[in-house]
Amino acid sequence: MQAMQFSAGSFSEKTLQTIACAVGGGRMWSIMELEKKISIAVLNKHKSAGEKFSMLTCYDATMAAIQQAAGVEVILVGDSLAGPVLGLPDTIGVSLDISVSLTAAVRRGAPLAYLVADMPFMTYTSPAAAVANAGRYVVEARADCVKIECDRRLIETVRAMATAGIPVMPHLGLTPQRAGQVGGYKVAGKTSAGAIDIIETARMMVEAGASALLLEAVPPEPAQMVTERVDVPVIGCGAGPGCDGFVVVTHDMIGLTAGRVPKFVKKYADLHAPMQQAFEYYVADCRSGAYPAPEHGYAMSAEELAALKEWAGK
Ligand code: KIV
Repeated sequence: MQAMQFSAGSFSEKTLQTIACAVGGGRMWSIMELEKKISIAVLNKHKSAGEKFSMLTCYDATMAAIQQAAGVEVILVGDSLAGPVLGLPDTIGVSLDISVSLTAAVRRGAPLAYLVADMPFMTYTSPAAAVANAGRYVVEARADCVKIECDRRLIETVRAMATAGIPVMPHLGLTPQRAGQVGGYKVAGKTSAGAIDIIETARMMVEAGASALLLEAVPPEPAQMVTERVDVPVIGCGAGPGCDGFVVVTHDMIGLTAGRVPKFVKKYADLHAPMQQAFEYYVADCRSGAYPAPEHGYAMSAEELAALKEWAGK
């Protein structure tokens, strides 16, 4: 395994101390804490210094705490939660309420990460709706930024959000919420005209006030041109090595996704099999009587047990 490298500005070796952090249900977790809150200023500093950073999707407090412990700088509550959390076939059915609740949960698990919330389909159909709905993520869930799937027609929406003080990350390139309109999940910017459109749209979005950009399924060359031409962090999802940061869906990279994962995903673990095995052992123990054993229960004192038995006539 590669030694971990920590860059100045977000955290340092000094922070490799284990601290106790309470997350949900009173459980204690060992956290290798980030040194300080990751803000947009920290990400901008990374960009200026040429230091790459990581972003992963997350939909619950437990996973968020693990990701923060691992030093993940940016956490995305993606509408990709549709599959792993809700069992939906695509992202169209994700509701605003569920997404805001899960964003708040992730924030509780990872208070120091830069937290991005993905606005679901139909929640930003006008600048006014976008501002009102995005405000919920910032106020109720304490998200640092919201992401919307964009093309240049949403420029005024981005401007309205930025004007309202909401940090916004336009998502350009492949935009899964529009799959029904374009006939599937298609790589974007493969033609020179398509690539120029993405580069120009990126610049317009930044001029309108975007705090960061996300490029999905875009060839590396135009993605790098965008990254070099804008002064906000650019995060790539299948957009080559030239972006400032990189994101994939966590369930894909840890081997929990059943079925195909996108070509750009690198698998770092295969957790499906060990999880299923643990469940199988549990089922077998329940059926055989091996679980629960006396050590898994709460004993009564001999005196109280005798009194109970006497009451029961045994
Ligand atoms: O919803 C999501 O997880 C995303 C990423 C794939 C970028 O938008």
